[in-house]
Order: sequence, then C-alpha cells, then structure tokens
Amino acid sequence: MTSKARIDQNLLDSGPVDHIVTGIGQLCTMEPGDGIAASPRRGEMLSEIGAITDAAFAIKDGKIAAVAKADELEKLVTIGPDTTGEDVDGRLVLPGFVDPHTHTVFGKTRQDEYDRRIKGETYLEIAAAGGGIHSSVNDLRSRSSENLLELTCNRLADMLEAGTTTVEIKSGYGLSLEDELRMLEIAREAGENVNIGTILTCLAAHEVPKEFKNNREEYINLICQKVLPAVTERSLAQRLDVFCEPTVFTLKETEKIIKCGMGLGLRATVHADELATYGAAQLAAELGADSADHLIQIDSAGIAALAKSDTVAVVLPGTVFSLGIDKWAPARKMIDQGVAVALATDFNPGSSPIRSMQVIMSIACTQMKMTPAEALVASTINSASALGLSDQVGSIAPGKCADYLILDYDDYRLVPYHTGHNSVVAVFRNGEQVVG
Ligand code: NIG
Ligand code: FE
Repeated sequence: MTSKARIDQNLLDSGPVDHIVTGIGQLCTMEPGDGIAASPRRGEMLSEIGAITDAAFAIKDGKIAAVAKADELEKLVTIGPDTTGEDVDGRLVLPGFVDPHTHTVFGKTRQDEYDRRIKGETYLEIAAAGGGIHSSVNDLRSRSSENLLELTCNRLADMLEAGTTTVEIKSGYGLSLEDELRMLEIAREAGENVNIGTILTCLAAHEVPKEFKNNREEYINLICQKVLPAVTERSLAQRLDVFCEPTVFTLKETEKIIKCGMGLGLRATVHADELATYGAAQLAAELGADSADHLIQIDSAGIAALAKSDTVAVVLPGTVFSLGIDKWAPARKMIDQGVAVALATDFNPGSSPIRSMQVIMSIACTQMKMTPAEALVASTINSASALGLSDQVGSIAPGKCADYLILDYDDYRLVPYHTGHNSVVAVFRNGEQVVG
C-alpha cells in the first residue's frame, strides 16, 4: 500500500481534518492495497475486502480524507484545534451496507399469505386467488400518504440501525399515474427524514392493474406516455424497472418500456428470470441495464451474457428463504464464471419481509455458498455498483462519502456467522453519526 493511494490530496490541502477514527481492530476498506479498484468486482476481486489491522482514517467535509495504519495517519493529516477523534477500542469498521433492491413503501403486511404458503399454497396460486401484488395495490391506493410515510420511515430507520446507509426503493404498488408518483414522493421524503441515502426506481411495470386486465397495451402506453414522463419531469426517480416474466410483462413489452424510460434519461434494472427461464437477463445486459435481479431460473446463456457485460447480477436469497422454495439463484456458478454479483434484501410484504443486509449475507453464505468475503463485497461495493454509485459509496476510500459502521466484533466473518444478531453499535453517514 502506498500512502499516496490512500489520501485525497485536495481534501487534505483544504485545512485540518474534522475527525479521526483510531483504535480499529479490523478495517474492511473493500479496496485492494494499491488503491481504488474498478467496479463492479468479479472473479477474485469479489473476495477483496481490503482488510487493514491497526488502521485509522480521517474525515473532512463528510468525506474520507485519508486511510492508513494508525502510526502513519498522523504524518499524513493536519490536526487542528477543532479536530475531533474517536477510539473504537479494537472494534470492526465496515463501509455502510448498500441495499440495491427494495419495495419499502407499502401498507399492510401479508402474513396471511406466509401462513398459507407454509400450508402448501404457492406464491402464484395465492396471487391468482386475489392475494399477491394486487392486494398490496388495493391496500396502498386506499391509504393516506401520512400513514404510508410513517410506516416507510419506521422501516428505513430499522434498516439504518442494521447498517444500511444507502437503499434503493421502488414504486410498483400504485399502478396508476397518481399512486406511482405518490409512492415515489413518500420514498423521497422518508429517505430525507431518516437520513438514509436513497436511489428511487419507478416500477409502474410491476403488474398490469385490474382495471387494465383486458387492455394491457393501454396500460403500457400509460406507463410510457404519462407515468415515466411525469416521473422524469419531477425528478422523482433515477431509474425504472420492469417485472419481466412470461406471466407478467413479456420480453417485447419489457424492451419497449425500458427503452422508453432510458430515452427519458432514466437508468434501468429488470426483475429477471425469477419464476421462469426467459432470457430476461440477456435482455437486461443487451439494454445496458444497471442490474438484472432475482435470477433464480437463469440458464447458462444468461450467465454468459451477464459475464460479458457490466450489468450486475443482484441476487435476492431472502426471497427464496421467505417463500420457502428450494431453488436458489446460482450465485456460486455466476461468480465462478465471471459475473459481477451483488446482494439485496428485496424487502417487500409478499415475498421477502427481511430488512437486514446482515441476515441476507448469512443466507447467501450458507445456502448459495458465497464466502463471507464475497457476501461482504456483494453487500457494499458491488451493490453500490448496481446502483451506479460506486464512485461515492460502498468502500472506505479517499474522496468517498464517510458512510461507515462500527460493529462489536473483531472479524468481519462474525457478521454472517451470527445470523439475526445486529452488532452494529454506531452508523455514520457523510461523517455524521446517525445511529448509536
Ligand atoms: O421482487 N417479483 C416481484 N415483486 C416482488 C414481490 C412483490 C409482492 O409479492 O408484493 C419481488 O419479489
Ligand atoms: Fe423485487
């Protein structure tokens, strides 16, 4: 490691640093010894956690100004009368987790469906009988914005406490111009209230709403001609998403909607190959989507297409776990074949009521045979890449946001190992303490 590679000269030249963190037992920077690596990470780089022992780092203007061994840091930075410091007493420090796929704005929970699935009904049977996405749509449309905002804020606060500092939030339970915009407005306001970073995604193409059941073409036109233009005009989302399945939106329909959104300046992601092997991952790669998500049913052609692209494979093992099905996305195979893999919660009321990235890491390790190092890269720098944010968050590196966690552990592997235990004692965003 050269000290040059670990400092932001402009920040250091602008005067004394604001804050110094010392006494770190293990610091996982997520960056290799020789500087900042390109993202998304694949192959061997998916195991590169950039661990430094006896490390320290300095913060200036909410950004990381320098990272070094503790005894080197003081030679690199200027300490002023107002510089503060914290000794973390040998604890583990990680970058804040980035959760790149959630449906956090919803009203009622759907534990009745959970109960029914355990007794033998499937997700699709329950959806066909009036449950599923449509039941959340009916519920959301009838709820006040105040109530939805309160519920969303509480969920985001839980995520922040579990170490997620940046979260993607989708619409998709509105399925009308008015309610899709309302969901995105609520997501934006909730993110600001809770002080968690957000990327918002318009998922008006989550399902064809009941009132367009016999005229899906018209609903797709509504998305392309009304919803997406209104979303971009009001800067309510940075991205769009489509639930691409033979039983929901076809490949052709998905391509049309994604191209329309990209034409308006939105970036894209796709719910791909979750229920059927359909070639949706290839389509996502072809269209230059940020990510293809789910991928339980992806085949070798899909894996090859993703391996050749910069489209990140976002796998959602919480969904498989919560649905109680026995097929996992082939994360191990994808990693071994050169795909850039990331993890997310898919937090939603139907198929994944899990809001902790720590729990997702545990499931990824034991069920998909990702190593703890891969699970950590997939929950930080690669999930930041899946959102187009890897130059800002996802690693503890000079010039990046000072978004970091202090955990009451001395080894990062304890995070997935202690399934369900939250050992995060403090969370910082842009250098400011937001939990603890
Ligand atoms: O990502 N797959 C589609 N959408 C959600 C489920 C939504 C719901 O059941 O409410 C998912 O798993
Ligand atoms: Fe989803």
